[in-house]
Amino acid sequence: MKLAVLLSGRGSNFAAIHEAIAAGALDARIVVVISNRPGAAGLERARQWGYDAHAIDHRAYPSRAAHEEEVQRILAEHEPDFIALAGYMRLLSPAFVAAWPHRIVNIHPSLLPAFPGTDAQAQAVAYGVKVSGCTVHFVDENLDAGPIIVQRAVPVRDDDDADSRAARILAQEHVAYIDALRILAGGGWRVEGRRVVVG
Ligand code: GRF
Repeated sequence: MKLAVLLSGRGSNFAAIHEAIAAGALDARIVVVISNRPGAAGLERARQWGYDAHAIDHRAYPSRAAHEEEVQRILAEHEPDFIALAGYMRLLSPAFVAAWPHRIVNIHPSLLPAFPGTDAQAQAVAYGVKVSGCTVHFVDENLDAGPIIVQRAVPVRDDDDADSRAARILAQEHVAYIDALRILAGGGWRVEGRRVVVG
């Protein structure tokens, strides 16, 4: 399974994927890493690890379409089976999503459909939920809304602050992302309406 990774920040989910592959726990190959932020720590890690790593700064393009065209050009050179969004903080246009049906995967730090959008952990704290978690899902044309591949629950503790909660969810994200990619790599899955059915 050839993976493209798109990120914007520290890249801990990218690192988890890298480590799972290196440890033989995930049968995949990262063929390209793209960041829309040139200073992203994840991009630096990608370079250190010897990946084909590209900064495609969205601010240098006149429109979302122009930026996506360049991202698509780089992706096309590598023919990934799946595109893993790992903290990629750009909305993808419907045209981009339509070009990769059920082949773009995202991780979100809440149990969707609760708390889509930014600051999901803080939204969960403010709402007062007792269980939070993370979701790996296919990307469709709506925000944080595509068919769910894997979810992991994280109990909320009364003594949690936003940072400790986010850290405990992040640890589960790293497990969930590998589980989801393993499902995709294994084949034998299908999407029935909103449901991802395995086996
Ligand atoms: C994660 O919390 C992920 O769920 C969200 O963005 C964050 C990325 O973290 N989409 P990292 O860059 O993978 O460390």
